[in-house]
Amino acid sequence: MIPGARLIILGRQGAGKGTQCVRLSRHYVVPHISTGDMLRAAVREGTELGMMAKEVMDAGGLVGDDIMIGIVDERLRADDARNRGYILDGFPRTVAQAEALDSITAERPLHAVIDLDVPREIVLERISSRRVCRDCGTNYTATGQDPSPWICDTCGGDVQQRDDDTPEAVNRRLDLYESQTTPLKRYYSADGRLVVVNGVGHPDHVFARLTSTVESHR
Ligand code: AP5
Repeated sequence: MIPGARLIILGRQGAGKGTQCVRLSRHYVVPHISTGDMLRAAVREGTELGMMAKEVMDAGGLVGDDIMIGIVDERLRADDARNRGYILDGFPRTVAQAEALDSITAERPLHAVIDLDVPREIVLERISSRRVCRDCGTNYTATGQDPSPWICDTCGGDVQQRDDDTPEAVNRRLDLYESQTTPLKRYYSADGRLVVVNGVGHPDHVFARLTSTVESHR
């Protein structure tokens, strides 16, 4: 176990960031901070942020930088993140967010920024078969012979397709990834912080690559 790890996992939509961050967070006993999960929780709670974010998310767009930076700044000030570290999933997504994060973390810098690399054609396949528990967020992969209704093994909630996993929204998200998030690779490689990890293969093999990368960068 590596106490106090502070990591970012970058990668295309559907690269397996959420899946692997859940495992990494258990393995290193650090909070998994997913901006997508935080926004989906706000949607479920019907807050003003949630109502605004739902429209943007369902269309495959990006929520504004100022809002996202404010949410993450507040979350990283919480005791668990300050004392135990964190794994950031889905943030930053733009260079403006990365610059703000560098200011927020100036006193406790990141240990590694990992780009979980999966080609676009493979993520498209994964997202089209992704099913998610509405209550606890557990991910599943549809096989075509799935029960209906599908009940989550973890919490008993309803397992369904995500509202933003329509072909139109997925393609928009992937296009925005290329234009807005790909420049982060240059941003983080300029000072040697970026490590690319192959995200193709069995999830257990991807997890082993990630942990060996984290351990070699601590
Ligand atoms: P978010 O929830 O972050 O979604 P995303 O980036 O689109 O990422 P995904 O959840 O689609 O993919 P993932 O890489 O986590 O893959 P997963 O593990 O599920 O954000 C949602 C929205 O919120 C954004 O579109 C935006 O509107 C807004 N937002 C969030 N953060 C923002 C920010 N910072 N700024 C602005 N807006 C923001 O895996 C995918 C599937 O593949 C699953 O079914 C899984 O079971 C399967 N799978 C995983 N690994 C493997 C493997 N190795 N082999 C085969 N299948 C696999």
